Amino acid sequence: MPATVILGAQWGDEGKGKLVDRMAEQATWVARFQGGNNAGHTVVLGEQVLKFHLLPSGITRKECHLVLGDGMVIDPWVLDKELTDWQASTGEDPRGDRLFISERSHIILPYHRYMDSLDTKIGTTGRGIGPTYADKINRIGLRFGDVAEVLGDDVWLTTTVDRMNASLDAAGSSDRVSMESMANDLQWIHETYTSSIGNTGLMLDNALKLGEHVILEGAQGCLLDIDQGTYPFVTSSVTSRGNASHGAGIHPGHVEDVVGITKAYITRVGHGAMPTELNDEVGEHMGTIGHEFGTTTGRPRRCGWFDAVVMRHAQRINGFTGLALTKLDVLGGLDELKICVAYELDGKEITELPSTASAIARCKPIYISMPGFPELPLSEWLAMALYANESRKGISVLPTAAQHYIAKLEAIVGVPCTSVGVGPDRDATIDCV
Ligand code: IMP
Ligand code: MG
Repeated sequence: MPATVILGAQWGDEGKGKLVDRMAEQATWVARFQGGNNAGHTVVLGEQVLKFHLLPSGITRKECHLVLGDGMVIDPWVLDKELTDWQASTGEDPRGDRLFISERSHIILPYHRYMDSLDTKIGTTGRGIGPTYADKINRIGLRFGDVAEVLGDDVWLTTTVDRMNASLDAAGSSDRVSMESMANDLQWIHETYTSSIGNTGLMLDNALKLGEHVILEGAQGCLLDIDQGTYPFVTSSVTSRGNASHGAGIHPGHVEDVVGITKAYITRVGHGAMPTELNDEVGEHMGTIGHEFGTTTGRPRRCGWFDAVVMRHAQRINGFTGLALTKLDVLGGLDELKICVAYELDGKEITELPSTASAIARCKPIYISMPGFPELPLSEWLAMALYANESRKGISVLPTAAQHYIAKLEAIVGVPCTSVGVGPDRDATIDCV
């Protein structure tokens, strides 16, 4: 079986957690390949709401192996907390048994968090992501596989701590790193994770050769990609398809399906322009009904109409083989649904995303309008999804206006929908047939 890539097509928070959790039923491995605990996935299992930042969403499937891949930056304390919480609710410690950490992945240390806390420009999650990737690119980072080697290396310790404190000083931070805390941290990381650190790329490659199904789980979204996103208001990693196999340590030939996840509208957290942003009662409707608050930072997400310029950009970069549309139910109760099909920039109509933040900020959306569909209670949406899947009637069970809306999005983006989400529950997803 080949690998399937699941990616956010917008500015993150498209509902990857729920989809990976669902698709993991057919997989034996779920691997993250970039980012770190800036991500936040919510998985709803009946009454239980689970929030993860590092653990791949496939953890809820006991037979699934989990990989934190080469391209990631990992805060070992956050991971420990997630594992402790998981163990408290399930009794399972998956470390070294079915959870593996790449020896090539980089470690987020307190220093990186101190540096990130100084950010006022980007609106980062403050988790140390950017500074850790900066050290990686500067070739001074610390990887999980390096810890055993630097333990007890006083020269490394002194040089590193001195460098970190000089950087903190130069950046105007009052935080400092001590030799003792650094030595203790390394010792703790070593003791806590030795059993789970390994060559995870090789594990995935072997699994694929044995015909197993691997899911490569993206974090953030295409518009937060360091190269292809709305720079500089982006995250510090390549969030796109091109990095899915690379960041997991396998070759791109393994990948067959690439699912792009998109909300039926759009949201963004953090700074940076968002042309279809709504500061009115429709935006409020989306935020309230859609519970649009960041899983990681709790910040309210900015909401707006579906932006086809953004989506066509995401499609060009990623070549999605299917779209997973999420949160369609949230649009219920709006009389009119708008889709942004182009921008007006300095008096000219454009259909491609500009490369600079200031140009994007000057873009005014050009909309088409479609009729809306009624608001329904979540229980009715869920019942509709269960019936649609059981009867194999797919989205034909949806209100006609909703079907037309989906068909329009498919036509504009040029990719078919493979599933449509109509509520937070694991089963509130309609498979398109
Ligand atoms: P960083 O990734 O913490 O450096 O933050 C950079 C930008 O990406 C900020 O605008 C964040 O709000 C945004 N961001 C990072 N991770 C996520 C995510 O998982 N979902 C949505 N936005 C994110
Ligand atoms: Mg999220």
